This record gives sequence, structure tokens and C-alpha cells, in this order.
Amino acid sequence: MTTTPTSLAGRAAGLDADAPLGHVRERFLLPQGVVYLDGNSLGPLPAAVPPVLEDVLHRQWGTGLIRSWNDHGWWDAPARVGDRVGRLIGAAPGQTLAGDSTSVQLYNALSAAAALRPDRSLLVTDPDHFPTDRYLADAVASRLGLGVRRIRPADLPGHLAAEGDRVAVVAYSPVDYRTGELHDMAALTRAAQRAGALVLWDLCHAAGALPVRLDALGVDFAVGCGYKFLSGGPGAPAFVYVARRHHADWRPPMTGWNGHADPFGLHEEYLPAPGVGRGRIGTPPVLSLLCLEAALSVFDDVDLDQVRAGSLSLTGFFLHCTEVLLDGLGFEPVTPAEPERRGSQVSLRHPHAFGLARALEARGVIGDMRAPDLLRFGVNALFTTHQDVLTAVTCLREITATGAYDPSAHGAGGVT
Ligand SMILES: Cc1ncc(COP(=O)(O)O)c(C=O)c1O
Repeated sequence: MTTTPTSLAGRAAGLDADAPLGHVRERFLLPQGVVYLDGNSLGPLPAAVPPVLEDVLHRQWGTGLIRSWNDHGWWDAPARVGDRVGRLIGAAPGQTLAGDSTSVQLYNALSAAAALRPDRSLLVTDPDHFPTDRYLADAVASRLGLGVRRIRPADLPGHLAAEGDRVAVVAYSPVDYRTGELHDMAALTRAAQRAGALVLWDLCHAAGALPVRLDALGVDFAVGCGYKFLSGGPGAPAFVYVARRHHADWRPPMTGWNGHADPFGLHEEYLPAPGVGRGRIGTPPVLSLLCLEAALSVFDDVDLDQVRAGSLSLTGFFLHCTEVLLDGLGFEPVTPAEPERRGSQVSLRHPHAFGLARALEARGVIGDMRAPDLLRFGVNALFTTHQDVLTAVTCLREITATGAYDPSAHGAGGVT
């Protein structure tokens, strides 16, 4: 039987009816008439957030004033929210801290990791890594007098065979932010550590999207953001994970007063707080932390293996719809077809990606694009439906087939 748009609609309805996490969609305030496929850049607003923020603003800040640092747990929020993220990334309590931006956490963690291998002279990063990861690897290397090697994850074993004894840190992301390719975290962690290097994972595109098992894999350091799959809001605090075995020895370079063992002692000299707590720098962004904390309640009874299964069903259906509906229209899927190599997005190459993304958005289908020619569609099994996917691909087919977009439009994809 050939697949037709009608049978795709039936299939989408059946898959949505059977989706074990279908009820979780109600936990988000999604605007009517919008198909949102950009939660891999900015997660949508969880319904739990506005009442909490209202309380934080009016009761905790407005009435409690400075007393709320203690009375409402503001001071402890970085560790408390960190542990809550830790549950989603396979980290036992006391190893994850929330606050600052991913870039700041990355700089701190990468510097500290490199300093734990003082006899080694190289940092390894991915040539396709997100720009901030590449720039900061260069910055850390230049400050510490190290070299940087840009090695694709697939080429890591060969590289380690050649000069693994010089590698201090391997810093990768499990998911390629452009193509959505998922790398094998377990195998890469093992390979790097067997060569004596430490491993730092950037979990921006993995935390909340798929099960991550940092403790079980023996990962050394990790960072990630709070605003993508964790839906903590624009500019939400990031997080850092430091494996317990490094707690006594890691030395983050940003020695702010919040990371002092006795911050209110106002001592002459810096003395690092125990554990992951020394990763704190300055006064934490309390409103954003409490917003992220409320957002994380979405995950309270959610099994990340089910999120992963739902995500694979959505991306698999997306690729199938692409095959059926976009054939001959100039699209090339760059996201791997093999489920074990797919993150939680589908990327399609098309020479007019920018104009198409604009035209989709005008019709209420929000994805994004990455220059020069990639359309990106993020799915999140907590709120994306197969019907959303079918609507998006059908819309893409219509605007492409009828030329209802500006083929001369070019741009860099904008914010996110
Ligand atoms: C892998 C990765 N790292 C870092 C960032 C962003 O860093 P920051 O949160 O500091 O802006 C992104 C943003 O998309 C990302 O995809």
C-alpha cells in the first residue's frame, strides 16, 4: 500500500492516541494556532511558572524583602535547582549546580578540568561544536598555554591513538546542534578516559530530551543550559556537573565570593567552598532560578526513557513524512535515519532555507534555520504531537511546491 497524505493523517492520529506522555502537553501554555518546533532553542512556557513567579515577585520579594534569602531558600537555590536538574542527567545529589550561563560554566569547568591534567598540553573539541564551545576552548587554551585539536567525535579513537597521552580534556556535545546527530557518549567517554584524559560534555541539546547517565558513565564534568528542553525561560540559568571524585581538587578560575567556604565571613583570602559549591561565582539570578525550578516540575513524574521513545517516534515520523511529502522538492535530510544516531530534532538542507523558515513562521509553524542552508525542527515528546509534525511537513510542501516564499531571502537565522 502506498502512503498517502490521508493515511499519514490516520497514522499521526493513531500514534498520538497511543502516546504515553500525551497528557503532559497540558502542562505547557502553548499558543493556539501555532505548531511549535523550536523547543530545542527556547522551550515553551510551563503552566506552573506564572503562579510561582507571581508569588516570588509579590510575596517573597515584595513583602519578604531581604529576609527571603533565608526564609524562601533563595541562597540555597543554586544547589537545590542544580540537584533537580541532576535527576534528569543521572547525577546523584551534590554534584550539580545551577546558575550563570552555559558559556560561563563552560569556561570555569574546562579550565578546572585542564588544570587537573597539568602534565598534558592539549584540549580536544569538535570542529562542528557550537561556536561558544569552540571560542572558549581557544580562550582556555591560550590562558593555560595549551594547544587545541578540533577532532570530529567519529575520529576521536584514531586521534587518541596518535597523541592521546597529550590530551588533557575532551569537550564534546552528545548532539550536533545543526544536524541533530547523536554521538555515543558512553563510547567516547570510555575512549577519552582510557587515554588518561578527562571528559566534559555540553548537554544543552540533551538534558531533558533523552536519558543522560553521567554518574553511570563516569563522566568528569558537564554543563548545559536551562532554556531549551528544560523550558526554564529565555536566558534561564545554566548548570554545571562535577563528579564527586573531583570535588576535593577542582579549582574553578572564577573565584567569586559566593564560592567561598564562608562567604559572609568576608575574609581576606579566597578559600574554596567544599564540593560543587565552589562553582558559585556571584549573587545568583534568583528570579530566573526559581522560574527554572518551577519549570522543572513538568518532569516530576516523567520517565526520560519514555521521553526518548516519544522523541524517536516523532523524529522517525518526521523523516517518513519528509520522504512521502517532500520528494523532488530539493530537500536533503541531514539527520541520521538510524534511531540510535538521532537526537531530538530533524534538520533538512535546502538552498532556500531562510525564505522557507520565514514563510513557515508566517503560517504558524515555528522551526528555525542555521546558516547557510539548514532548516531545523526540534521535537519534544512532552508537548509535540505527530499531528504537529504532519502539519509542519504539509505546510512546507505547500509553500515549496507553490513557490509561496522568497527564494532570494538570506539571513543568519536570528536569535536562539
Ligand atoms: C551546544 C550549545 N552550547 C552552548 C550554547 C549557548 O551558550 P549560552 O547559554 O551561554 O548562550 C548553545 C546554544 O544554542 C548550544 O547549542
